[in-house]
Amino acid sequence: MRARSPAALTALVLVALVGGADGFKYARSFATRRAAQLRLATAARATADSGAATATAAAEAAGVVRVQLEKPLGMVLEEAGEEGAAAGVVVVELAPDGAAARDGRVREGMALLEVAGQDVGAATFDEAMDALIGAPSVVELVLQGEAPAPAAEQVEPEEEVPAAVAEDVPAPAADDAEDVDDGRPASVVVDGSTKITVERGEILRNALRGSKVDVYDLMGKVTNCNGAGQCGTCAVAVLGETDALSERTDAELRKLGKKPDNWRLACQVVVEGGGELEIQTKPWQ
Ligand code: FES
Repeated sequence: MRARSPAALTALVLVALVGGADGFKYARSFATRRAAQLRLATAARATADSGAATATAAAEAAGVVRVQLEKPLGMVLEEAGEEGAAAGVVVVELAPDGAAARDGRVREGMALLEVAGQDVGAATFDEAMDALIGAPSVVELVLQGEAPAPAAEQVEPEEEVPAAVAEDVPAPAADDAEDVDDGRPASVVVDGSTKITVERGEILRNALRGSKVDVYDLMGKVTNCNGAGQCGTCAVAVLGETDALSERTDAELRKLGKKPDNWRLACQVVVEGGGELEIQTKPWQ
């Protein structure tokens, strides 16, 4: 704040505390040059006059406020522009506990646009003071300051793609790649020479017979139970991996008893996975 002369300080006290005509007159003696306020005042005056809701919103967006203050107003006004010019007045100081400060919307630097409905945006200092002096004890003022900064648009942050995570996923090792289920049917080597394809979910006996593989020996051809798990004549030995085959059934546990662990009843085995399999038919021979 600038250093003020004793006369100026006297004017400040008069305006802030008394609000009378003498106070305003003294305040003029230390007027500043705020020509920029005139441009703001002209634009805002039309907005404030409209009274419509949209205009009110536009006025607020332009930094215009409409307040009702009780005298003394508690603010120091100076003329805008060159001394004696009809460029309106601006608020240069607020009394800490004055009416304007208590209202909270009046700020230093604001241009005074209206006093009790009277346009003072382009008034001389004396005209503005006359309007204030002649206004009722509770006076409606329209002022304009700098437009508030627009609120930053709330933009939902995009979910960050954890690219680094994707990049960090290690490539499958060679051994792991072999375990990848490609969905293809099983390829079954029978008796070391015949290779058949077995669809997933197919019963091994049916697949063998469908491929004209001789599942039974001579006795079995006559005595087999036709896949009921009762005769044991369809037994095969599974060579190598058995992960693609279904679990042993109760019928297998009964009929195979003490037979080697890799023996299975072809009529009970479901080929559930793919890959390479190898079996031997009639393993007792
Ligand atoms: S056909 Fe009889 S147990 Fe398999």
